[in-house]
Amino acid sequence: MQILYFSLTGTTKKAANKISDLTGATLTEIEVKRVYPKDDLSKMKDVALEEQKDKISPEIVSNIDVKKDDLIFIGCPVWNQQLPMVISEIFDKVNFEGKKIIGFFTSGSTKYTEIESDFKRVVKSGQILDGFMANDNEEILNHLKKLELIK
Ligand SMILES: Cc1cc2nc3c(=O)[nH]c(=O)nc-3n(C[C@H](O)[C@H](O)[C@H](O)COP(=O)(O)O)c2cc1C
Repeated sequence: MQILYFSLTGTTKKAANKISDLTGATLTEIEVKRVYPKDDLSKMKDVALEEQKDKISPEIVSNIDVKKDDLIFIGCPVWNQQLPMVISEIFDKVNFEGKKIIGFFTSGSTKYTEIESDFKRVVKSGQILDGFMANDNEEILNHLKKLELIK
């Protein structure tokens, strides 16, 4: 099992660490070359929206290798009611054929049902299992119990 995650301000990173603690999955941070204005939320929202409108992803600098894993968690924040463009870039670059994929997301208020269709749209290979919001430890624990993935 492996956890791929993208996190701008640390919330998704915390969730990814929790999932790793509970399941034993290894962690890979998806890092990008672009330096985002993460301390200026309104500017950051504009930058994200511009990427989403133009369908341009930042360049990924992490080495992502999922060959040895059958089950992959993919996590990121919700940006402007959508996924950050880097998640769609992952599916353009990495082949997930034969893998099970579980999305987990963090947000201020957006719910899983509001982001699920966007995730289904960007996943180009692999089999999607039930994903979840990972804003707090209880949500994470409950979902992993349901999936029977607690180590
Ligand atoms: C550019 C941007 C857009 C955002 N858009 C939304 C949104 O549409 N809905 C929402 O609930 N939260 C939104 N948020 C809040 C983040 O999803 C939330 O703070 C998330 O947990 C941040 O994760 P991170 O610390 O791993 O980057 C947005 C934050 C940023 C920076």
